[in-house]
Amino acid sequence: MNDITVSAPSKFVILGEHAVVYGKPAIALAIDRRFTVRVRRSNEFRINNEASDIRTSPHMRYIIGQHNMIPVSVNLDSKVPAGSGLGSSAALSVAFSAALRALNGFRLNPESIAKEAYEAEYYAQGRGSPMDTSVSTHGHGIALNVPNSKENHLWNISKNDKTWDISKIEVPKMTFVIGYTGIRAPTGPLVEKVRKYKDRNKFASDIVDEIGNITLEGMDKIRKNDVEGLGKIMTYDHKLLSILGVSCNELNKLVDASLPYSYGAKLTGSGGGGCMVALTDKPKIVSDVIASRGGIPYIVSTGVDGVKIEYN
Ligand code: PMV
Repeated sequence: MNDITVSAPSKFVILGEHAVVYGKPAIALAIDRRFTVRVRRSNEFRINNEASDIRTSPHMRYIIGQHNMIPVSVNLDSKVPAGSGLGSSAALSVAFSAALRALNGFRLNPESIAKEAYEAEYYAQGRGSPMDTSVSTHGHGIALNVPNSKENHLWNISKNDKTWDISKIEVPKMTFVIGYTGIRAPTGPLVEKVRKYKDRNKFASDIVDEIGNITLEGMDKIRKNDVEGLGKIMTYDHKLLSILGVSCNELNKLVDASLPYSYGAKLTGSGGGGCMVALTDKPKIVSDVIASRGGIPYIVSTGVDGVKIEYN
C-alpha cells in the first residue's frame, strides 16, 4: 500500500470543558468539518509537496516516533480553523495516527488511535484531557466520566492521577449553530490559566465542581430529549466559564446575540476567542445574528462518523 487518505472529524463541547481536565464529566459531539491527511512513503519528509521536517509539528513528531517510520510525504487538508476551540490538533493527531497504521498494514483499532493521539496532544500541550481525541476517533457523541451502561463503554484513558471513563451517547436530533469569533486562541495557555486560578482559589475550584454537577444534569436532559432544559444548563455553563476567566467580549457578544432565538448558548472549547455554540430551532436566524455581530456561523450536522479511511 503506498498512498492512504484518512479523515477525522472536529468537535464541539456541549458541556464540561476545562472541568474535564480535572476528571469531571463532559459531553462532546463530532461535527462534519473534517481534517484529511494523505500519507505515502517517500525518500524524504514532505508536507504539502514541499520538503519539510515533519518533526517540527510536535503532534506529528510524537506520532512518527511511535511508529519507527521511514520518511513519509504528508498532505494536509483541514476544514477546521486552527485554535478555534473545535479540536483541530486532535483531529490532525487522530487522522495522522490512523494513516500511519493503515500505511503499515494495520487494522484501525479506535482505542489505540484515541490513546496515541491523546499522548501526542499531551506531548504538544503539556496538559489537557482525552476528550477531543476520543470524540474525533469515535465520532457521533461521547461522554466522559458520566455514569453509563456497560454496552456504551468505549475505553478508559489515564494520565498522572486522573482516569477518564469514555462512553458513547445517543444524541437526539438537535440543531446547533457554531459561531467563530475569528480569534485564534491556543488551548494550552487557557488550560494553564484555569489551573493557576483553581490552585490559588477554593472559589475557582468550587466553580469547576459546579460545572461537573451541571454536566450530569445536562446528560439527564439529553436522555429525556429536553432541549429547553439542556439549553438553560448550557447558558449557565457559559456564566461559570466566564467566571473562570476563559470567555471574552467577542464570545459574550455572539452568545448574547444568539440567546433570544436559542434554547441556550455558550462558548465551546478552551475559549479566549475561538467559538461559541447555540442550541436552537431557528438556525437561519441565529446564523444571521452571529454574522451581523462579526462572527462566522456554521450550522452543524451531528451524527458524524469518527476516523475513517477515505481512499487507499
Ligand atoms: O480548544 P480545544 O478544542 O482544544 O478544547 C479544549 C477543551 C479543554 O477542556 C479546555 C481542554 C481539554 O484538554 O479538555
